[in-house]
Amino acid sequence: MNLPQKERSFVAIKPDGVQRSLVGEIIKRFERTGLKLVCLKMTMATADKCWTHYNKDEKWYEEKGANVVKNRTNAGLPIEKEAIEYGRDIIGALVKFMTCGPVVVMVWEGNQAVNIVKKLVGGTEPTTSDVGTIRGDLTLDSYELSNLASRAVRNLIHCSDKPEEAEREIAIWLDPKEILSYRLVQEQILYDVNIDGLLE
Ligand code: PPS
Repeated sequence: MNLPQKERSFVAIKPDGVQRSLVGEIIKRFERTGLKLVCLKMTMATADKCWTHYNKDEKWYEEKGANVVKNRTNAGLPIEKEAIEYGRDIIGALVKFMTCGPVVVMVWEGNQAVNIVKKLVGGTEPTTSDVGTIRGDLTLDSYELSNLASRAVRNLIHCSDKPEEAEREIAIWLDPKEILSYRLVQEQILYDVNIDGLLE
């Protein structure tokens, strides 16, 4: 059986997070929950890697593209292509954004790591992310603004949506050798049944 405290989440601080000097602030928010950092790397992403990472299907392109068409219509802008093409452009712009400067990729491990990380990161669109979350507190972009400008939404960070997605993403970005297996002393108070030995 896989131990619950071994669940892993993949996190990437996007180029806007690096450029706004928020790497330390973001890491601090994960670190203080008790999650364990088992990999940390600053790297330049390639377009191929990003397209593999954001492996969206036709349905996703269709739905997201329909929203773009709606926003363009409301803004009085011409509709120049099929909705699905606007949907593909969203990932195209995201790939361009992800490859414009360094990103910081990380793997965090712990009980329900995926949900803990998602809770701290907040909803995808910063203007509607909850207060107290990384995206809600530290930035201000919206889909409407980014779509009208044909650029990616600048939301500082990516995190895995599900544990199986985390494993898929980790395999894309990292070599197994880069992920460390070690014990943090705080794991005793977080998880162990036996908490003898605290008093002197
Ligand atoms: S969603 O909203 O749950 O469908 O998002 P997700 O599947 O994670 O989407 C993948 C990335 O696409 C970006 N995204 C968008 N950009 C612009 N406009 C719209 N409408 C939009 N919807 C999603 C978003 O940045 C997601 O990437 P991450 O890295 O998760 O932020």
